[in-house]
Amino acid sequence: MARLLAADRAGITAAARLLGQGSLVAFGTETVYGLGGRADADATIAAIYAAKSRPAHNPLICHYPDAEAAGRDAVFGPVARALAAAFWPGPLTLVLPRAPGCRIGRRAGPPDTVAVRVPGHAIARAVLAEVALPIAAPSANRSGGISPTTAQHVLAGLGDKIAAVLDCGACPVGIESTVVDLCGPRPALLRPGFVTAADIEAVIGPMGQEDGGRGDGRILRAPGQLARHYAPNARLRLNATGCDANEALLAFGPPPAGAFPVFQLSATGDLAEAAANLFAGLRTLDALVARAGLAGIAAMPIPAQGLGVALNDRLTRAAHPGQPETIRL
Ligand code: TXA
Ligand code: MG
Repeated sequence: MARLLAADRAGITAAARLLGQGSLVAFGTETVYGLGGRADADATIAAIYAAKSRPAHNPLICHYPDAEAAGRDAVFGPVARALAAAFWPGPLTLVLPRAPGCRIGRRAGPPDTVAVRVPGHAIARAVLAEVALPIAAPSANRSGGISPTTAQHVLAGLGDKIAAVLDCGACPVGIESTVVDLCGPRPALLRPGFVTAADIEAVIGPMGQEDGGRGDGRILRAPGQLARHYAPNARLRLNATGCDANEALLAFGPPPAGAFPVFQLSATGDLAEAAANLFAGLRTLDALVARAGLAGIAAMPIPAQGLGVALNDRLTRAAHPGQPETIRL
């Protein structure tokens, strides 16, 4: 079973040392917990894919303590520099051309591009600064499942597959970083997140959708393009205005009257609070549905504005029927 490391000086140093040795160590970020491993070592990259049962076509994000470190592996043009200055450290991932001398192993993703991010979590950055290598960190869950927002979530899913988890507490943002691709003819939003399209367009002007104008929208480029992802085992019914007696309710604001279990995302309808609670809520209700033999989860509507776009994206993919990792072409 993985060691649970406290997020103090000794724990940070232990996490950095294990990572440097090529072990897999999960750590908290402001978004979700990441399954960290050396991005410059093909064996470690292979171990990350194996631990998550992640399909090889789904590339990894590399994490850095600051933009300067990311600049060793990725080419920052003026648009990338503007976005990094505006949002780093923070929940934004940039897909950029590989730099000459890029340290990231070829098995981490496509041959010509890399996804880079400087997390907005001080403990994560302290680990990254100490290890001083690019650290690949996909969300620390089995592929297709619900992303972890606590160390306990990580242990429950991957405890037997990794060396340690650095306990950084609950992730304050709660949903994965926004992914912007700057490798096409125009910037493209690959995955909505806490940093909204409007936030980004306020800095760099209008973006394109999904394939960035490359015309290769059939190529899988981000988990936002997997139809089923972030999924509980239970059936998930969206935009529910009522809840059946044999369902559990994922509430956003005042719940409808009735006798059923409720997990409240935000009593006041606050989108940031709902994001922070979303994955824990899905996990809690998923376990409850299984335990109590209920029919499924009913999720109340969330307005699709601002951060609500990302929340609806996650819920829609979590509700998609079929096998995890179904690819929408
Ligand atoms: O918030 C986050 O981004 C979290 C925390 C741990 O940092 N990480 C995360 O990683 O969500 P992951 O692997 O679950 O999602 C990263 C996604 C990949 O699924 C992939 O599709 C996209 O980013 N990505 C990575 N490299 C890419 C590339 N070269 N081109 C296009 N998309 C890429
Ligand atoms: Mg993920």
